[in-house]
Amino acid sequence: MQLVHTVDQLNAALAPARAAAQTIGLVPTMGALHAGHLSLVELAKESSDVVVVSIFVNPKQFGVGEDFDKYPRTLEADTALLEGKADIVFAPSAQDVYPPELEIQTKHAGPVGNLFEGASRPGHFDGMLTVVARLFDLVRPDIAVFGQKDAQQLALVTNLAAADYPGLEVIAAETVREPSGLAMSSRNRFLNSEQFEIAEILAISLLAVCELIESGMAASAALEIGREMISGEPETKLDYLALVDPSTFVPLNDGATGPALLIVAAQVGEVRLIDNLPFQI
Ligand code: PAF
Repeated sequence: MQLVHTVDQLNAALAPARAAAQTIGLVPTMGALHAGHLSLVELAKESSDVVVVSIFVNPKQFGVGEDFDKYPRTLEADTALLEGKADIVFAPSAQDVYPPELEIQTKHAGPVGNLFEGASRPGHFDGMLTVVARLFDLVRPDIAVFGQKDAQQLALVTNLAAADYPGLEVIAAETVREPSGLAMSSRNRFLNSEQFEIAEILAISLLAVCELIESGMAASAALEIGREMISGEPETKLDYLALVDPSTFVPLNDGATGPALLIVAAQVGEVRLIDNLPFQI
């Protein structure tokens, strides 16, 4: 495995693969890797010859007052975890990703980007798409793997690839969970042991709401029950719990049928967590 920091080093590391027409897989991350990320890397390895994992805490996707400064930076531990799994780790500086002499085009997330996570974190999805497009331009992957846990991000990246990167396949990786059901997240490390237990309520409420809807209860009533379950927990502040169309993120009405996605965001202590559950109604 090679650890590279600059674009020149990245190009040199990728040159043999490009010369041999090998397929390149990209797993973009912000580091602080956990088993969820490693499952993305495994999936990338199954679908491509050479796997690049990027590690870059992208300032453009953090709003004022968000946790950019506090976001865990654990490059040494991350590279140790990736040893034997990734071929190239690309850990650039902000200067490499956004060189001042280059005019980097800001990507716009459009209507989907203004809903839910986008409404709570204005500008987040434009910043996320801008860095993802930049990484696609630098790595020129054949496939890129993103986690289903960030469902709105996944939908937006899939649209970006379809619009601007013909031939690039975006692969979705299932959410990896703790034994309690809590979705793995780099931010979970900021939960104390009590909050770690409390945070299980997100996954528990998603499952409960899904079962209630499947058993015939109106979605609006089931969601209300789920909201009470979350709000009833100490230290928990619900942002949203909603049933949406998985590609447009437009809320589904009672009685809707077909593919559906339950999405949730809540603060547990100081930590903002998200989760989701795709299902068929
Ligand atoms: O999901 C993440 O970790 C980030 O949003 C991503 C895709 C690496 C872009 O910075």
